[in-house]
Amino acid sequence: MLRITVMNTKGGCGKTTVATNLASYCAAQGYGTALLDYDRQASCSRWLKERKNGRPFIHGIAAYAPPREGTTRAWQMQLPADTQYVITDTPAGYETYNIEDRVAGTDVILIPVLPSSIDIHSTADFIRDLLLIGKARALNKRLAIITNRTRIRTKAVEKLERFLQSLDIPVIARIRDTQHYVSAAERGLGIHELSERDAQKDIATWKELLDWLNNAQAQPGSSQQELRNCSG
Ligand SMILES: Nc1ncnc2c1ncn2[C@@H]1O[C@H](COP(=O)(O)OP(=O)(O)O)[C@@H](O)[C@H]1O
Ligand SMILES: [Mg+2]
Repeated sequence: MLRITVMNTKGGCGKTTVATNLASYCAAQGYGTALLDYDRQASCSRWLKERKNGRPFIHGIAAYAPPREGTTRAWQMQLPADTQYVITDTPAGYETYNIEDRVAGTDVILIPVLPSSIDIHSTADFIRDLLLIGKARALNKRLAIITNRTRIRTKAVEKLERFLQSLDIPVIARIRDTQHYVSAAERGLGIHELSERDAQKDIATWKELLDWLNNAQAQPGSSQQELRNCSG
C-alpha cells in the first residue's frame, strides 16, 4: 500500500484537482483506491458524491469530520482490505502541528504549485516548514512537485522552473491549464474519464504520475531533499 498526501498551504494551487484525478486514474487502472478528505471545505467528498455508480470505485473518507455518533475514529478511518493507493487531500493554510501529523502518516508528498510569484514564495515557505517542522527529509519521505496550469511558456513559468531547479525535489508532472479539469471536477470524474477528444491528451500526465508512484513503491525511502536548498 502506498500513502500519498497532496499538500501545499497555498490555496487554489490544485491539491483537490491532483487528488481527485489521481484517485480516479488509479481506480480506472484497477488499483484499490481510497480518497481521504482532510479539508473542511469537503471538495473531494462533494466530488465523490457526484461520481456516478458504475465508475471505478473509490473508497471515500471525510477525515475532516468527527466519527459518526456511536462509532470510533478507528472505525471511520478503516480502509478496505484491497486498498493499494491511499490519496489524501489537505486544506490550505493549516497549522504546523497538522503538517507533522500528515507527514508522519504518508509515504509520498505531492506538492502542486502554480506559476505565479505569490505561489512560488508561499510554496518555498511551505517546503521549508515541511522539511523543518514536518522533518520530511529526516523521516525519509519522498517529496515531488507537480506544476499546475503551466503548459504555456510565460515569464512566470520560467521563473517557476528556475525556482524548482534550486530545490533538490523532482518535478514529476506538468498539468495543462484546461477547462476540462473544471468540468471533470463538477461531474465527479477525472479528466481521463471525459469523452472529449481534447481531454484525452492529458491522460499521459496521469500515466506518468502513476508510473512514478509505482516506481517509488518499488524502491521505498531514498529521498535526497537538501534542506539547505530550501531557504526560500
Ligand atoms: N490545470 C487546471 N486547469 C484549469 N483549471 C484548474 C486546473 N487546476 C485547478 N483548476 C481549477 O482551479 C480551482 C482551484 O483548484 P483546486 O484543485 O480546488 O485547488 P486547491 O485544492 O489547492 O485549493 C478549481 O476550480 C479547479 O477546478
Ligand atoms: Mg482543495
